[in-house]
Amino acid sequence: MRVLVIGGGGREHALAWKIAQSPLAKKVYVAPGNAGTARDAENVDIAATDVPRLVRFAREAEIDLTVVGPEQPLAEGIVDQFLAEKLRIFGPTKGAAELESSKVFCKELLRHADVPTADFWAFKDPDRAAMFINDREDQPVVVKADGLASGKGVVVCSGKVEALQAVNRIGREKEFGAAGNQIVIEERLDGQEASVLAVTDGRTIITLAPAQDHKRAGDRDTGPNTGGMGAYSPTPLIDAPRLSWIEEHIFVPVVHAMKRARRPFRGLLYAGLILTNQGPKVLEFNVRFGDPECQAILMRMESDLLELLDATVDGRLEQIASPAWNPHAAVCVVMASEGYPGGYATGRPIRGLEEAATVPGVKVFHAGTKLVDDKVVTAGGRVLGVTALAASTAAAKLQAYTAVKAIRWDGAWCRKDISDKAIVAALET
Ligand code: AMP
Ligand code: GLY
Repeated sequence: MRVLVIGGGGREHALAWKIAQSPLAKKVYVAPGNAGTARDAENVDIAATDVPRLVRFAREAEIDLTVVGPEQPLAEGIVDQFLAEKLRIFGPTKGAAELESSKVFCKELLRHADVPTADFWAFKDPDRAAMFINDREDQPVVVKADGLASGKGVVVCSGKVEALQAVNRIGREKEFGAAGNQIVIEERLDGQEASVLAVTDGRTIITLAPAQDHKRAGDRDTGPNTGGMGAYSPTPLIDAPRLSWIEEHIFVPVVHAMKRARRPFRGLLYAGLILTNQGPKVLEFNVRFGDPECQAILMRMESDLLELLDATVDGRLEQIASPAWNPHAAVCVVMASEGYPGGYATGRPIRGLEEAATVPGVKVFHAGTKLVDDKVVTAGGRVLGVTALAASTAAAKLQAYTAVKAIRWDGAWCRKDISDKAIVAALET
């Protein structure tokens, strides 16, 4: 098969790397890719949202399957356009992608389907949102922009003052643009977070190995939200019985509700969960692989990813065995540019990549990188996902950070505590 992966982040590097290992894969392209995918696959210089050129390329290069990494092209309807051209593509249609691109749509669907999630209130008018906050008791809430904002349009507030400021930023100052045309206010829940990803063809659901992301910029979950600063898998937070519960009470009703809403879901469904005292509740749904969860999960996947994606597109997932997982642990540490998740410089030469790659069990996935005169330079906020596979989470953490230490550029930083929650949880049991 000739495969095109769309996107240029760490997730897409991991997808291309894993797909290229499939005996079914003859050739793997990535558009636009990064310096890492240039090595493990072949880059095509087309932006992830330039659908007309992507369609033309898919036709000319005789692509058998296109796999969409990021949410933006999905939200804009890339799948509908490929399907209209009779091109095979992995991902949900625009209507189904609203599960991620509109938090209001997602929350209303969850409410109708009786899926556990935080209580919420939606507002088109920021004045009404502010009034609602003023009229309530001073309880902790979370204020969210309805639309896509790269994981940054969410403000976790401890009280009224912060909540009113958040409404102002999202709804009046439009810090996240049109994403803030509707505001969602949620009750603030407490608990550990986990990510459960599943592939579904709209009928059969296959969950992947659960993972945990680290969304805040600072150690011990402090500082602003980011796209994700590191991940690990497996997680002691979700054992087999809990995963079955999540399948039955979260994935099955959501997939059915999407069908009833005439937006059948085909692709990757990602449940962002919070494990409260009353059980797991949904924080959000994403309609594509998580970044950096994808890097940690695919490091452990022993089965053929391409076969799984291909079967999803054809609606024949029921014929596919559940994936086999390496029992070892994977830890992915994101190295970022100084300033991220705010503004940052680019074009900084990265040194030490060869040395890092020699650390046993380590794969360095590239995210915001590019090649300039054959040298790797920074080109984004999240730059690398240094990922290690080892016998325990603690060993994988050690290997990942050993590789991180070998890599240098001006302004590089990372969290120092990726996977500590799993290590602590393991010590407590
Ligand atoms: P989201 O993009 O909706 O998943 O939100 C990003 C992050 O904000 C989550 O990973 C949580 O850390 C936090 N968050 C979102 N909603 C809530 C909530 N209702 N209660 C507590 N924390 C939340
Ligand atoms: N790691 C969170 C996300 O991909 O949205």
